[in-house]
Amino acid sequence: MEFIYRDADKSDIKDIALLEKSVFSDSWSETVLATSLCNPLYKLLCAFLDSKLVGYACVMCVCEEISVNRIAVAENARRMGIATELLKQCFDYFPDVERAFLEVRESNISAVKLYEKLDFKVISVRKNYYSKPTENALIMEKFFGQ
Ligand SMILES: CC(C)(COP(=O)(O)OP(=O)(O)OC[C@H]1O[C@@H](n2cnc3c(N)ncnc32)[C@H](O)[C@@H]1OP(=O)(O)O)[C@@H](O)C(=O)NCCC(=O)NCCS
Repeated sequence: MEFIYRDADKSDIKDIALLEKSVFSDSWSETVLATSLCNPLYKLLCAFLDSKLVGYACVMCVCEEISVNRIAVAENARRMGIATELLKQCFDYFPDVERAFLEVRESNISAVKLYEKLDFKVISVRKNYYSKPTENALIMEKFFGQ
């Protein structure tokens, strides 16, 4: 199977919002996505299979630090390396960055495993950080060039 990766544009917003809705309880609306798309600090990258959106990532880069804001892959396209490739390409886009960090639900094993595979390490726990449902957040970080 061949996947195509490219920057998101306005025409992708509807499909990204649908993907968001299918995976997150606090999904981003089309308005939030459109605002992110216009923000020069953000990079939104999409993955396509047979012209259909199957994944996307949104990362932000401020003061030479990357924050992974969103990563989602459609259920029927998981475990094919799409999230890994999306994050790698996003990180490569900011070559001078030293550090990336993110927050993840403690129970989100698939995401934690993904991040560990990309060399993120847990550095702290934020108690009851998430709602819908209430849950701790793991704060994970990764250093580049090591
Ligand atoms: C987390 C998520 C983005 C992973 O996407 P993906 O494209 O399936 O991930 P990849 O195929 O790149 O997987 C890379 C590695 O992550 C780990 N991993 C991914 N899914 C896993 C699972 N269900 N169980 C265990 N490990 C898993 C594995 O180590 C995997 O490598 P392997 O397949 O060689 O064993 C996807 O499950 C998803 O969209 N989940 C819902 C949204 C979400 O939770 N986003 C993260 C919010 S912080």
